[in-house]
Amino acid sequence: MDFKIEVNNNPVSVHEGETLLVALRRNGFKVPTLCHMNRFSPTGACRLCVVEVEGKRDLITSCSYPVEKNMKVKTNSPRVIKARKALVELLLSNHPDDCLYCQRNGNCELQWLAEEMNVKERKFFGEKNADYPDHSSTSVFRDPGKCVLCSRCVRMCEEVQKVTAIDFISRANQTKVNSAFHKGLNVSSCINCGQCIMVCPTGALLDISHLEKIQAELESDNKEVLFFLSPSTVASVAEQVGLKSQQDVTGMINTALKKCGVNKVFNLGFACDINILEETALLNEHMATNPSMPMISSCCPAWVQYLEEFRTEWLPFLARSKSPQQIFGNLLKTHYTNSQKLNPDQVFSVAVMPCVGKKFEASREEMTHQGISEVDAVLTVRELFRLLRTFGIDLRSLKAGQLDTPFERSSASAWKMGYSGGKAEAIALELYKMKNNGNQDGFKFSVSKNLAGKKETKLKAGNEEFGFAWTSGIEEADTYLQQLLEENRTDIQYLEVMGCPGGCAGGGGQPISRNPEKPKNRKKFCQEMVKISPIKSAGENPFVLDLYKNKDASPGSEKIKDWFHTHFRKREVMK
Ligand code: SF4
Ligand code: SF4
Ligand code: FES
Repeated sequence: MDFKIEVNNNPVSVHEGETLLVALRRNGFKVPTLCHMNRFSPTGACRLCVVEVEGKRDLITSCSYPVEKNMKVKTNSPRVIKARKALVELLLSNHPDDCLYCQRNGNCELQWLAEEMNVKERKFFGEKNADYPDHSSTSVFRDPGKCVLCSRCVRMCEEVQKVTAIDFISRANQTKVNSAFHKGLNVSSCINCGQCIMVCPTGALLDISHLEKIQAELESDNKEVLFFLSPSTVASVAEQVGLKSQQDVTGMINTALKKCGVNKVFNLGFACDINILEETALLNEHMATNPSMPMISSCCPAWVQYLEEFRTEWLPFLARSKSPQQIFGNLLKTHYTNSQKLNPDQVFSVAVMPCVGKKFEASREEMTHQGISEVDAVLTVRELFRLLRTFGIDLRSLKAGQLDTPFERSSASAWKMGYSGGKAEAIALELYKMKNNGNQDGFKFSVSKNLAGKKETKLKAGNEEFGFAWTSGIEEADTYLQQLLEENRTDIQYLEVMGCPGGCAGGGGQPISRNPEKPKNRKKFCQEMVKISPIKSAGENPFVLDLYKNKDASPGSEKIKDWFHTHFRKREVMK
């Protein structure tokens, strides 16, 4: 039911049950927030959203207060403005004064608030947080000195990712966010998803940077520096720079990287196609041996790590295929080096990914051979932009250059891996062809059941019917799989899981923004690329088929296991 309230002397229509903040924002009133996150339970931690309500002695936090009939609200009274300014001044009182050295300089919500509140000088001098920065993780860097205790990371880690690797410790002015027992994130249950980085308003959470070691390789000339670009990275670059899908965005990134001194730039989509063919072959095998449990995708490192730490009983159902990143790294260190008459340690392989968990994946023992990593460094999209800025490169002014050979071509299916549900569709298409003697006529893949974040569809292929499901975000995936088991459902044969909400389009290595449209736009870009890709499916990629032919092998066969398959194991961590 709707009713009217008064805001700054104007009548405003509100919905019963909504919070005052939601009603104010919908009606165009600007209210600053710091701890508030849409769709998360309010905590009232920062108090920046305070407003004045006639008849109430204290200012109220609009993010947690429901609208009431006959309310008279002031969002910008002198008392409100003074209170908000004092709150920001207090937050700044123990904040380190090192904005010039902070990666979030220019994209920091605390800076924006200080500017909005017209804070011009330090009013209060608080004791600085003396906790050391935590560099222990392979993927996530924590600097407690910059934490404003908004609890956004804690809620993300607990409510969306079901991990609770970080939490509040101590009380009152000693309160801090930390991992279990003050130990580093590396021994905590953190699954390196990076979603806490995406919601942190300041520079308290960042990527573990690989930029410096890449720059060192670029300068030294000791090794060939080989980059490979993931489809979602290309979508993010296009979005950030305002390029259209019809433009050769990949070619422009290639030119830009060559200007930075990169020797060769390849297309990771090639390995996406291999990964799709391998998982389809494994799915076919799995259905014959394990008909009661779906095979689960394994290309998301955060999801894999979650199972290794929290759900070891589900590990046997993970597809044994390596992720596209590791397949590509392996190809560079074996096939490519052989063809160029180089030793594997004469090349330096760099993946450009929308994900910080890929840094952890590259460091896994299973992904090294005789002390040599398949992937030497992983750049997030954020780091890629920093690299280009360091070299003073403006992408928009560049002409597209051809990606390097081999491995330069990929299919429409590779682009589908950039968003949640796309991989399930790509695997369904290959399975359909497998069951129809290579024919794809009549293939249809559309959502038949939409269970709030978990989607299902049925595929008729030959005389059989197969169930496909997909979901993203760890909590959603865990709950869904648990439910499938409790209900003894055997109608779902393949489950795609991406650890980040929305899949790689919302990955933890993407540019940080509070605009919820951005991941949707990246998905749209990938879908546009699907439409215009000349090679329609992974199994039609002639370059991938040639690779298998040269190895005298087929997808899933014994001969290519060392290259394209891996194993997973239980991980003991502090919980
Ligand atoms: S990276 Fe993911 S699992 Fe680790 S602390 Fe952040 S949100 Fe939690
Ligand atoms: S680390 Fe960042 S997101 Fe987490 S409580 Fe501190 S400021 Fe908020
Ligand atoms: S945004 Fe309302 S209390 Fe922080």
